[in-house]
Amino acid sequence: PLHHRTFLSNGELKDWEGETAEVYSTISSTEDYKPTLLGSVPNMDEASALKVLAAAGDAYGKGKGAWPTMKVSDRISCMEKFVEQMKTKRDEVVKLLMWEIGKNLPDSEKEFDRTVEYIYDTIEDYKQLDRDSAKFEKRDGVYAHIRRGPLGIVLCLGPYNYPLNETFALLIPALIMGNTAIFKPAKHGVLLITPLLEAFRNSFPKGVVNIIFGRGREVAAPIMKSGRIDVLALIGNSQSAIALQDQHPNKNRLRLVLGLEAKNPAIILPDADLNLAVDECINGTLSFNGQRCTALKLIYVHEDIREEFNKRFAAKVDTLKFGNPWDEGVKLTPLPDPEKPAYIQELIDDAVAKGAKVINKKGGETIENYIFPPVLYPVKEEMRAYQEEQFGPLIPIKPFNSIDDLLDEIAASNYGQQVSIFGKDVYELSPLIDTLVNLVCRVNLNSSCQRGPDVFPFTGRKDSAAGTLSVHDALRSFSIRTFVASKDN
Ligand code: G3H
Repeated sequence: PLHHRTFLSNGELKDWEGETAEVYSTISSTEDYKPTLLGSVPNMDEASALKVLAAAGDAYGKGKGAWPTMKVSDRISCMEKFVEQMKTKRDEVVKLLMWEIGKNLPDSEKEFDRTVEYIYDTIEDYKQLDRDSAKFEKRDGVYAHIRRGPLGIVLCLGPYNYPLNETFALLIPALIMGNTAIFKPAKHGVLLITPLLEAFRNSFPKGVVNIIFGRGREVAAPIMKSGRIDVLALIGNSQSAIALQDQHPNKNRLRLVLGLEAKNPAIILPDADLNLAVDECINGTLSFNGQRCTALKLIYVHEDIREEFNKRFAAKVDTLKFGNPWDEGVKLTPLPDPEKPAYIQELIDDAVAKGAKVINKKGGETIENYIFPPVLYPVKEEMRAYQEEQFGPLIPIKPFNSIDDLLDEIAASNYGQQVSIFGKDVYELSPLIDTLVNLVCRVNLNSSCQRGPDVFPFTGRKDSAAGTLSVHDALRSFSIRTFVASKDN
């Protein structure tokens, strides 16, 4: 086990002498499927968290610190140094991704490589932003030299499903724009951050990036309560985001960059290519067991083709292989949250009690600590599987006849991230797409929902997001436009 005892504060890896929290994997090496102890991390307290906050505050220096005033090329050098050192930790991080969150090997490698690429792309985009800020704009005799400046101290919290990539999608742009940051890793996927602490320490000036461990209410809440946080950057659930905002004494001063829940639907029209729709919906619903905010979490199938679609889809789900993340060809893997199988079972029981059936043969079977993904049909609005973001291996299918009614349903949803639509007739599709883009932020044509490529905007309406991410947008989300004005006479 990896018993990790240090945290990063004020440019130093400090030893934590207090209580620690054990980290377990639901991947078991014993016949009775007992969790495996992977290691432990510091369980920091309020006082230690506030010292870290003070370090981030000093480094920012209310905007006068060395980091926010540093030359662009020097900040870029720090980031380049970091990414070079980070790359040497690939094997360790990938292994921990598999053990801690059960992500299969190809997806774990992809998460690491995608993050490295994200950092390089951010550096390039930042250089362009800097070139643009060298230009002057002139209007009514005023020359404006417009630039982008940092916002202050960022509290950065990432999710367990992308503990590296999504956290870094917040942290990296926040840092390069001249903010200082405090980052607390997610509960699952915490150990995999520890091999990177030295790279952070070696690459950035003291206090610029600080990494803490502990329970949200003991470390993140007091940091928010101090009123010194300028940006809350969080990818995770709305409840935590709201609870943290509520701690802040002056919300007007708080900028939010949030990636939250979604219930992205797929719409299968009567003329859809069914093989394509089935394959895309398999990936959309079950990549990383549906534990993605972008996962397809509800399938609307037109009555005319529902029999054929359901038959092919249910049969295909049953061909998917369950195993450990490093096993060849494995799609379904142990869920990091030991409570999740029981939750999935509750959703099945509720749907069945209200008239749905599990239409795939293996759906609901227990394998080790896992529950084989059930395909539920017909799902109705009163069912929990329709209402809740399952964030796990369960696929609700709902039939529809009228596009207008379907659009009303999507418009009534509390979420508004993405939708997938499968069909061929462009005359039917184009007005539909024009409406859907007003209900969600990304319409995927004949393909499943996803975040990438990371250069495209990633956001959501209603309860799904605040602010926009992407390589390009994140630089803007973590900065403010300022300018120097001069007269031309
Ligand atoms: O959890 C939400 C992630 O941003 C999903 O990203 O679509 O690349 O898997 P992804």
